[in-house]
Amino acid sequence: MILPIYLYGQPVLRKVAEDITPDYPQLKELIENMFETMHHADGIGLAAPQIGLAIRLVVVDLDVLSDDYPEYKDFSRVYINAHIIETSDETESMEEGCLSLPGIHEKVVRPSRIHVKYLDENFVEHDEWVDGFLARAMQHEFDHLEGKVFADRLSLLRRQMNKGKLLDLAKGKVSCTYKTKRVLR
Ligand code: NI
Repeated sequence: MILPIYLYGQPVLRKVAEDITPDYPQLKELIENMFETMHHADGIGLAAPQIGLAIRLVVVDLDVLSDDYPEYKDFSRVYINAHIIETSDETESMEEGCLSLPGIHEKVVRPSRIHVKYLDENFVEHDEWVDGFLARAMQHEFDHLEGKVFADRLSLLRRQMNKGKLLDLAKGKVSCTYKTKRVLR
């Protein structure tokens, strides 16, 4: 089932998300719905707050990048209760977009490598260092779990440049190809 994606301005995107347990109601179905919602909107990552739930659940599918990055062929993952433990000093700048902020694409500086702990869909624990595009996608998605969006990480100048678009978004004034939940004023 395709779920509406909550747009910038919705309070749930500003909440710190909570860990979940294996008995979370209809978790398997929720994960399936998140993948379906993300694919329908041509996204490569989706965090639960973006569908209105302040829980630490993220889905990522990088297969669409596999022409350029063969290591991401069929790379589809679920991250539960994810936490970033440490990050590299080395950083890189990469363009990002977000299904909750349609129409905004900006370069964001982030650490190149991250040490993460999370559970997969079977609640098996993982503890690993991640780099490359996946490290980027994880950091973007895990920010959503802390109530942050990528626009918060722009320089003052770039934020000023996008001020009008962000204001329109927060007022629900944006056109979008997928189903959304937005503030209507
Ligand atoms: Ni996002």
